Amino acid sequence: MLWKIAPLEKLADSFFTSRPPLLASQVLAELGPVLTGERDLSQTANGALEVVMAAIRAGSGALFRFQEKPAMLASIAAQGFVVFPQTAVFPLLSKHVHALTNVTGPQRISRERCDTFLSSTGNISSVWFRCIAPLKVHGKLIGALLLGEREAGAEYTPEVLKQIGDLAPFIALAMYNHQLMMSLEERTADNLKLIASVHSFWDDALAAFAATIDVKAVQMHGHSLRVGRYAAGIAESLGMSAAEASEMRAAGYLHNIGMVTVDKHLLSKPGALEPGEFQEMADHTVQGHRIVSTVQFPWPKIPEVVRSHHERADGSGYPDRLHNDEVSLPVKIVAVADTFDAMLSERPYRKKLALGEAAAQLSWLAPAKLDGEVVQALLVQLRRDAVSHVSPPRPWSSAGETRTRKMFLDPSVACNISPPDIDHMVSELHRRMTRGRVTLS
Ligand SMILES: [Fe+2]
Repeated sequence: MLWKIAPLEKLADSFFTSRPPLLASQVLAELGPVLTGERDLSQTANGALEVVMAAIRAGSGALFRFQEKPAMLASIAAQGFVVFPQTAVFPLLSKHVHALTNVTGPQRISRERCDTFLSSTGNISSVWFRCIAPLKVHGKLIGALLLGEREAGAEYTPEVLKQIGDLAPFIALAMYNHQLMMSLEERTADNLKLIASVHSFWDDALAAFAATIDVKAVQMHGHSLRVGRYAAGIAESLGMSAAEASEMRAAGYLHNIGMVTVDKHLLSKPGALEPGEFQEMADHTVQGHRIVSTVQFPWPKIPEVVRSHHERADGSGYPDRLHNDEVSLPVKIVAVADTFDAMLSERPYRKKLALGEAAAQLSWLAPAKLDGEVVQALLVQLRRDAVSHVSPPRPWSSAGETRTRKMFLDPSVACNISPPDIDHMVSELHRRMTRGRVTLS
């Protein structure tokens, strides 16, 4: 219960026996916490109704919210009635809305006069009420306070109507704020749903698109999809959020989008590229950046990743010869994922490496060429795969819950590496990183 009887009676007594300005402030002092407390609309409405009814000694009353389409007053709180619908409704004609919007202050209503403000087609009767106070904010109808008989048949005198009129704007404002909050919450929830659906749409669409990027050369097939997979796995290993991992997957899918501008014969050329050919190939970063810069992606790092995924930590990469501290983490992640998959893939000018050789070479490239922490994160995922490969998780190993970890490695890659071998690579990499020495193969 929000209000105890005794204080309310005392409050009501003082409302009528003390000087009016003080009375209004006393009631408002009680009303304030009721209206501004963090409660739902029904609790707030009932608390406010209770204060007003006690203050003017009304035996019954109800608070209504105005709904515009279709126009109606719908109850949100009611007290003092023997029987009252769960939601009482007064459908309103435009003449009622006009009268409620334009009338000044609370009005006495009678059997003869109630038709001015209320229809008789609702699920309650207007004859239950003796006074109506339209609730407005900035002249806009928000609702109405309807009050029944006062104690001992007392009249709604001009003084009492004025007191109700003094309190009404505060109740109106509280209801208005509640409605704003509700609509804001609804809109936020709608936006989140929309964002979620857009992300899911992008994910699916980009996966399909990634496959088409690699279609020009047979040895590139599946490369972008795998880079997306590895980039998301590294992000997860680095403790990034699911949304960030999702961004990394998308960045991996699109990192080579500029390849669509490269002559397909270059992609399949078995020997070394001529300088002009190499430049055309290298330009896929700049061309790709130009393409994605025109698209409003839900992930802001995509353009930078597309442009800079061939930059190297020591500044030996392209197109801008940026150093490790000049590129963002997403760029470093995709660079490692890209290099890793390239090592595990057949190329016209070399054979693909076995998993152990690729992991070792990748490890040796850090921290001089690739970011050391990102390579470590990849090795952590590889070790998890290797452990699962040696000893698959048993169904009862997770507190009665059967969970299967998604493997980091693409299914096309055999997991033929041992956890101790990976531990050795990690400790060597750690030693190089902590001593700050660069050891290149
Ligand atoms: Fe590339």
